[in-house]
Amino acid sequence: MPKRYKIAVIGGGQVGGITALMIAQRELGDAVVFDIPEKEGLAKGKTLDMMEMTPHYGTDVNLEGTSDFSQLKGSDVVIITAGVPRKPGMTREDLLNVNLKIITSVAENIKKHCPDAFNIVITNPLDAMIYAFYKLTGFPKNRVVGMAGALDTGRYRSFVAMETGYSVEDISAIVMGGHGPTMVPLPRLTTVGGIPLTEILPKEKIDAIVERTREAGTEIVKLLADGSAYFSPAASVLGMVESYLKDKKRIIPCSSFCEGEYGVNGYFIGVPTVIGAGGVEKILEIKLTPDEKEALKNTLEAVKKAVADTRL
Ligand code: APR
Repeated sequence: MPKRYKIAVIGGGQVGGITALMIAQRELGDAVVFDIPEKEGLAKGKTLDMMEMTPHYGTDVNLEGTSDFSQLKGSDVVIITAGVPRKPGMTREDLLNVNLKIITSVAENIKKHCPDAFNIVITNPLDAMIYAFYKLTGFPKNRVVGMAGALDTGRYRSFVAMETGYSVEDISAIVMGGHGPTMVPLPRLTTVGGIPLTEILPKEKIDAIVERTREAGTEIVKLLADGSAYFSPAASVLGMVESYLKDKKRIIPCSSFCEGEYGVNGYFIGVPTVIGAGGVEKILEIKLTPDEKEALKNTLEAVKKAVADTRL
């Protein structure tokens, strides 16, 4: 029987609100936006406003705001954006203690009300929050994934498009590793219309793009002065949701739980991940050069440190 999917968005702030907006624009499913009781009006107001927007898109979706976790029952996908965003001068790690408390409460409630959903964590510091959510829920690894690589790769692709002047659509790339300055963009595997990027741009330009990508989140934080990016994080999670619901089996760089892949054991780290109806269906292992391996080792150290800070 045909069915309408139900998507829970936890946190109705900037990222959560825009995620719900994009779900409605693409008619991916009905969305329930959850926020704390003090912000229930915000969640209800935003979703009602979006319902009143749907005639302009011609999309038939139901959107609701709530501060009652039991309203999330039966969700196919849960997207977690609850948490405090980064302010200028703050690293993602500075956020850890505040957001760990929030993730703990979210994990308890999702376990209770949505035990069968596919869960995508966006809250920062992502490398630690995804680990905490996994440990606290005890969900199987195929149903817990972090959104970071999709965002970092999207940023990298847009910088390549800006530099080359060619369509962003034709730029294929992958950024691996943790979600922070140690991330590992891979120019060797970047193509523009099938042509290696290394044949299109000189090394200095590529190095500058890699560096800008590593600091892209911080660049936005500095400009906004009162929060962190929200349009691109919301857009990045949509591809993951769609690949799951439509069993597209897209290969998306995601923060996935590794058990031996790339020599990583027991940590979530950004790796090329196949997302389909089974959730995280497969991690693709590619052969890395010695330099790339070294960079991955370095980013794993940063991930381990963030995870250690959770004391989980
Ligand atoms: N349960 C649910 N929602 C919560 C909770 C909780 N326990 N605690 C806080 N929230 C809500 C806030 O009330 C707020 O509406 O999370 C929302 C966060 O929204 P913003 O402050 O606008 O932050 P946003 O920019 O959306 O970023 C959210 O995503 O990209 C990451 O680093 C970012 O960790 C941050 C998260």
